[in-house]
Amino acid sequence: MKNKKLKIGRNDICPCGSGKKFKNCCRNRKKEISLKEEYKNRYGIHLKEPHEIEGIRKCGELLLSIMDDVEKMICPGLKTDEINTFVHNRTVQAGAIPAPLNYRGFPKSVCVSINEVICHGIPSERILEDGDIVNVDITPILDGYYADASKTFFVGTPTRDGEKIVNVAAQSLKRAIEAVAPGATLGDVGWAIQNYAEAQGCSVVREFVGHGVGIDFHEQPQVLHFGKRGKGLPLVPGMVFTIEPMINLGKRDLHVLEDRWTAVTNDGSLSAQFEQTILVTEAGYESLTPYDL
Ligand code: MF3
Ligand code: CO
Ligand code: CO
Repeated sequence: MKNKKLKIGRNDICPCGSGKKFKNCCRNRKKEISLKEEYKNRYGIHLKEPHEIEGIRKCGELLLSIMDDVEKMICPGLKTDEINTFVHNRTVQAGAIPAPLNYRGFPKSVCVSINEVICHGIPSERILEDGDIVNVDITPILDGYYADASKTFFVGTPTRDGEKIVNVAAQSLKRAIEAVAPGATLGDVGWAIQNYAEAQGCSVVREFVGHGVGIDFHEQPQVLHFGKRGKGLPLVPGMVFTIEPMINLGKRDLHVLEDRWTAVTNDGSLSAQFEQTILVTEAGYESLTPYDL
């Protein structure tokens, strides 16, 4: 005899024993699993499980507590190497590892980028001066999980140019984060930055991008800070990536110094950056390294 009802109907009771309707229970799970496989196979993107998200969130909390203390230290006369020592010690004391140290040969535990330095500044004997702007980019590894965030601070009294570029960079990240939701695309995120920053007469660096993060320092996808609305990969819940726009007061062109890390603007203009680690949720987004912008 033929059994017509081999297939579980949407409104049938779920066979898992939950008592819920199939459509409200494992039918969704099946969809999630196939999405997870599709993103892995097609794009190399690891959609995070709840326990992984919790691990990244914890790491983010540690990161922000270190960042808050760094902010309190910032003043004219401080050596950038003192920021490195502080971040290194705080990270290790918390049972975590500073991800930058020895990453592809990077010699220090944090990136510290002053004025025309766009990113990847190496802490040194250089002293912070009144009117400087300084980005501090921190990435701890806690229990195997990575969180990545940065902020640009004023040293002493800000200059007009300093104030302008720091505000535009912060607002660029804020707008980009607010564009994150399931169904939005990476192009929407890039566009939010480019559209705003260029309208302010600033330029967006293209050589460095945001990135998937969490299980590793730099995962798929690449998150461009420029783009077209509706283009690029659709965002889905479980994606975790950084957005980290680098905005220049002058032109976007850059070069890397002899040390093979320090990226600086070609025209010597100021550059500012803010970065957070963002989770795509069913409802929109959650920052796993949340701070006010
Ligand atoms: N934290 C940087 C980022 O946002 C990467 C720094 S790589 C290092 O992706 F080696 F310079 F630390
Ligand atoms: Co990053
Ligand atoms: Co970073």
